[in-house]
Amino acid sequence: MPTPSDLANRQIRLASRPTGLPTRDNWRFTTEAVTEPAEGGVLVKTLYLSLDPAMRGWMNDVKSYIPPVGIGEVMRAGGIGQVIASKNPAFAVGDTVSATLGVQEYALIPQEQHKRSALHKIDLSVGSATQWLNVLGMPGMTGYFGLMDVGQPQPGQTVVVSGAAGAVGQTVGQLAKIKGCRAVGIAGGKAKCDWVVNELGFDACIDYKSGNVREGLKTHCPDGVDVYFDNVGGEILDHVLARITRKARIIICGAISQYNNTAPVQGPKNYLSLLVNRARMEGIVVFDYADRYHLAVAEMAGYLKDGRMKSKEDVVEGLDTFPETLLKLFNGENFGKLVLQVAA
Ligand SMILES: NC(=O)c1ccc[n+]([C@@H]2O[C@H](COP(=O)([O-])OP(=O)(O)OC[C@H]3O[C@@H](n4cnc5c(N)ncnc54)[C@H](OP(=O)(O)O)[C@@H]3O)[C@@H](O)[C@H]2O)c1
Repeated sequence: MPTPSDLANRQIRLASRPTGLPTRDNWRFTTEAVTEPAEGGVLVKTLYLSLDPAMRGWMNDVKSYIPPVGIGEVMRAGGIGQVIASKNPAFAVGDTVSATLGVQEYALIPQEQHKRSALHKIDLSVGSATQWLNVLGMPGMTGYFGLMDVGQPQPGQTVVVSGAAGAVGQTVGQLAKIKGCRAVGIAGGKAKCDWVVNELGFDACIDYKSGNVREGLKTHCPDGVDVYFDNVGGEILDHVLARITRKARIIICGAISQYNNTAPVQGPKNYLSLLVNRARMEGIVVFDYADRYHLAVAEMAGYLKDGRMKSKEDVVEGLDTFPETLLKLFNGENFGKLVLQVAA
């Protein structure tokens, strides 16, 4: 068994801040020696990394819910790994853990950073490593708390979700069905729309790339939209605003259509619909719910087990592919939760 000092750690660091879509030039590849953890720390070998639209925001030097990644720093990323050295009695060599590992092959996590890195053991009998990055992980928690806490769906109501075939979207639509709602997705392309209807059990899905979203909403939400879970922003948000019911709830989870803009963000034009309908629009940041994740994970694990929840991941291999793989999120090439496999 190699000792940490025999290992080299390949890393991907932020070299410069992009304008528009990131390119390979925005990244710097480095290799560093791996060191033993100090007292209380652990050394984790990265197995899988979660690639998230939020990464694009972390590359910008703007105030947000979390500081930007600094120039020269290893790119921030959540992931699943295996403890390969431990100076902490709570973690044994061989444990599988979830943590903010960064885009690198090995993460040394000192004791004082365990909380900030959200380091915790995961139970692979409940779900696979990639499911722990999807419905049992951060996107699943986002869908769960956004829908349940902010959306407050009632049986019989209509829930619309954009980015429906993505990580957050697949959780939202399936959960809406489990809670007795009508679930209507919006996604790009026939394959994704067919999948959310035929495999996940959504009632309908509107292909925004080939169809007319306004007409689709009219057809599939004849009584209007009670809850809209917005992952994309832009024009689609405006179309949904035009169809909301009285006291509707709109969850602002993300606005991926705007993340690579070089022009100012396009805000909603139809916002007066909130006034007319006495409706509300509320943002959500998943980390605010961290102290309740265990409750949601237990519930979602039950749905995974009894087959009411499916979890689709799109796994791409190789740390070096990170710059191009990340772009799949922005051109819609990912089908399910985008995961980078770093080691077997
Ligand atoms: N607030 C929070 O705490 C929180 C936490 C996690 C995620 N989020 C947000 O949730 C959203 C979904 O994240 P995710 O991880 O589940 O990603 P994802 O849906 O798995 O992947 C992104 C998808 O966005 C769609 N997309 C890309 N460009 C678009 C455009 N211009 N217009 C419409 N759709 C576009 C693509 O699907 P199509 O092929 O269907 O176009 C793409 O596959 C993002 O906005 C993300 O920032 C927020």
